[in-house]
Amino acid sequence: MENHSLTVPCLFGIEAVVKKEIQSLGLEIIKVDDGRVTFQGDQKAICRSNLWLRSGERVMLDIANFEARTFDELFEAVKKIPWENYIPKDGKFWVTKASSIKSALFSPSDIQSIIKKAIVERLKIKYNISWFQEDGAEFPLRVFIKKDMVYISLDSSGDSLHKRGYRAFSGMAPIRESLAAGIIQLTHWNKDRIFADPFCGSGTLPIEAAMIGANMAPGLNREFVAEQWKNLIDAKSWMEAVDEAHDLMDEDAQLNIQAFDLDFRVLKIARENAKNAGVEKHIHFQERDMKDFYSNKKYGVIVTNPPYGERLDDERTVIQLYKDMGEQFKRLDTWSVNVITSYEDFERYYGKQADKRRKLYSGMLKTNLYQYIGPKPKRLITKTDN
Ligand SMILES: C[S@@+](CC[C@H](N)C(=O)[O-])C[C@H]1O[C@@H](n2cnc3c(N)ncnc32)[C@H](O)[C@@H]1O
Repeated sequence: MENHSLTVPCLFGIEAVVKKEIQSLGLEIIKVDDGRVTFQGDQKAICRSNLWLRSGERVMLDIANFEARTFDELFEAVKKIPWENYIPKDGKFWVTKASSIKSALFSPSDIQSIIKKAIVERLKIKYNISWFQEDGAEFPLRVFIKKDMVYISLDSSGDSLHKRGYRAFSGMAPIRESLAAGIIQLTHWNKDRIFADPFCGSGTLPIEAAMIGANMAPGLNREFVAEQWKNLIDAKSWMEAVDEAHDLMDEDAQLNIQAFDLDFRVLKIARENAKNAGVEKHIHFQERDMKDFYSNKKYGVIVTNPPYGERLDDERTVIQLYKDMGEQFKRLDTWSVNVITSYEDFERYYGKQADKRRKLYSGMLKTNLYQYIGPKPKRLITKTDN
C-alpha cells in the first residue's frame, strides 16, 4: 500500500496531544481539525499508529471525499469509488456510523443504506456476482458529512482505541483511558517525577501514567480489525510493529506512581486492572483518605479526577471535599496539581485560581482541567557539570 491519508478522531481539546503522538512515530501530519487529526502513512503506519496512539479513538483509512446534497448524488459518487481496491469478494462491509452537521443529507440510517447499496452495485459488476456471502474479513465504514461534504473512511481499529483490554470492571463511570492519557501528557509530569492520584478509583490515571513511563504501547493487549485485511496489510507489517513495541518497552523503568482511594472495593478493581495492564509493579496502591495525603518529597505531580457531584444532594459533600483539597495540597509547595472535574465552581472552593484552565470534553460532558503549576525541579549537579 502506498502512502495514504489517515484520520484519527479524538475527544475535543486533546488534538494537540494526538498530533504530538503521531509525530513521535515519525509520521507526517496533514491537518488538525476540531476532534480529528489527519496524517500520512503506509500500511506500517496503520499498524504502528493503532498500537501506539494513547489519546486518539481510532485510526481511519480515508477513502474519498466529495460534495453531495441529494441521495442520488451520494449514490453515484459512492459507486464511482474503486471499492474493489479495498474490499475483497468475501469481505463484510457496512457503514457502522454516519453523522452529519449542517448538511442537506442528515438521516444516518438512510445515508448508511444508500452507501451500502452503491458499494454493492459497484462490486457486483467488478466481481461479476449478484450475491455477497460476506463471510470474510470485516471492513467497517465511517461517514462524516459536514456542510454537504461527505468524508468516507474505513475504520482500521474496530473497537475504539481507548479499549486497551486491561479493564476488568467498568460499572462505575471511570475516566476514559484515552482522556486519561491525554491529560497526563498535558501536565508537566515525566517519569523522573512522583505521580500521585489521591482519588484513583479504578486506577485509570496511574495505569496510563505507568504505561507512558515504561514506554508500553497501549495496544499490545488487544486486536484490531485491520489485522484481518490481508489484501491491504501484510502479516509481516503487523509482526514488525509488535516486535518494535516489545523492543521499545522499558521493563526496568524506575517509576514512583502512587494511587489512593477511600474505597477499598474500587482499589481491588484498580489493582486487578493494573495487573491486567502489566504495570502493577510500578504503582503503589493504598486505601487512604485524601485528607491524609501528604509527602515530604519534592516536585511531585498530582493528576486526579475527584468526585464532581453527579447528584444534587452530593453538592455539599463535593464543596467540602474541594475545600479540603485546597487546604491539603497547599502544603505541597513544590508540587504541581492537575484536577479534572465538570464542577464549574471548582476554583472557588479549592481557594485558588488555576494557572491554566483547559476545556476538555469527555464525550458530551464538558469538563475542565485545572492546572496549578509548581516550580521546575532543581537540576541535580553532577560531576560532568564542572
Ligand atoms: C470520579 S471517581 C475517580 C475515577 C477514576 N479516575 C477512574 O478512572 O476510575 C472519584 C473517586 O474518589 C473517591 N473518593 C471520594 N472521596 C474521597 C476521599 N475523601 N479520599 C479519597 N478518595 C475519595 C471515590 O471512592 C471514587 O473512587
